[in-house]
Amino acid sequence: MLHRAAAILAVTVSACVARADGGGDAAARVFTRSCLPCHGTNGSAPLVLDSAERIVRNRRLASMLVEDGTMPPSIALPSADGLVADRRLSSEDRATLLAALAAGATDAFDAIKPSTDGRAAPAHDAIAPARAWTMPASGGARVRTFLAPNPSAARVRGVRVADPGARAQLPIRMMFLAADPRGTMRVLDAGDDGGFEAMGNVGLVPSGALGALSIVRPSFELPPGFCFEVPAGDIAIETIGEPIGRAARVLPRVAWIPAGADDTRPVRALAIPAKSLLLRADTCSTIEFTHAARADIDVVAVIVKGGAFLRSAEIDVRNDVRNDVRNDARAAGNAAPTRLLTVPDYRMAFAEPWVFTRAQRVTAGSTIVARLGFDNTADNPQQPSRPPQDVEGGLPPLGEDAMVVVLYAEAANSR
Ligand code: HEC
Repeated sequence: MLHRAAAILAVTVSACVARADGGGDAAARVFTRSCLPCHGTNGSAPLVLDSAERIVRNRRLASMLVEDGTMPPSIALPSADGLVADRRLSSEDRATLLAALAAGATDAFDAIKPSTDGRAAPAHDAIAPARAWTMPASGGARVRTFLAPNPSAARVRGVRVADPGARAQLPIRMMFLAADPRGTMRVLDAGDDGGFEAMGNVGLVPSGALGALSIVRPSFELPPGFCFEVPAGDIAIETIGEPIGRAARVLPRVAWIPAGADDTRPVRALAIPAKSLLLRADTCSTIEFTHAARADIDVVAVIVKGGAFLRSAEIDVRNDVRNDVRNDARAAGNAAPTRLLTVPDYRMAFAEPWVFTRAQRVTAGSTIVARLGFDNTADNPQQPSRPPQDVEGGLPPLGEDAMVVVLYAEAANSR
């Protein structure tokens, strides 16, 4: 299931092994901080590593994944003002962890502190489509969109996977939600097998407008004060799934997280799509696309959608030239851009919605700039074609459709 370069499978544990037994509880501390939040009993990862014995039993795979940067997954670099949590391992912590894993002694991990919470209980009021779809045993990633009835309008803070760990959930890597109150997509959903093969955008409303969930982040919550206003009607749930080696029934089930009395600022979605994408075989390319803000907005989350070829993302806010004579730097057009998000190692299978710790103001006249890096060479570990072929816009695994969805609230609402 995991994507990694074959070359890295030959694990090379570096000279740091020399410190194998001198680390005291250091390895346990690193593991508790950087791995247990997801690998504890209540975490998002299917593999539970909540005891020293379990960690040691899985140590070869664990070192491999730490070495090639797959674990911890889905790293966004922290911006200067701390908008996203920093999940990186420092090189020292990485060395400590790898050394303890290589030594293979359980006492290095005896001091880990697993949380005792159980997994989230299944939700009784789950939003789910009527029929499951059968994903074939093998092949590349698939996009499948389902429609699920949402009986009544609701103000929600977010959404979560209703029954994490359930079999019908296993092949799903990511889900993007959008409301279809008029039922315009029902006609697509008429077949016997659940769902249809298309993006889950509803007209101009991008899928992701009601948030997104992923294997890395099975629960999505807006920052305090914000909410989604979900109308009654259909919810389109776009899923990206990966075959798990046997045919599997796939059925997305999600549950709303209700909004509190103070969560009153409605959040909307802005889509910045990569238009007429063409990725030449054997080349890497960076594509920049922009959106000019017409009013002051507060950005609360960013969703980066891409397929096998998307490998990095940078989202900036650029203050363009203004008729503002009092501000010379801006008038000259050299105000430094504000970095919203940097994802240096984007992997479709480990992507997540990036929710900011607090809203980021983007003023009218500024431009949101998305710079996406694509790799259509044989070096891309997710490359579906040997040798690489030219790639155009379309569904994965062979096509690429990249889009940045910005979730924001109008700034005027805050006053
Ligand atoms: C943000 C959540 C998160 C963090 C933090 C995290 N993992 Fe994972 N890990 C996952 C998920 C999700 C999977 C399942 C991947 C899959 O099914 O493809 C996984 C899979 C694994 C696997 C098993 C892979 C397999 O093929 O079954 C190992 C081993 C692992 N992680 C080790 C670690 C170690 C060691 C750390 C700490 C350095 C870590 N993980 C940190 C989410 C996380």
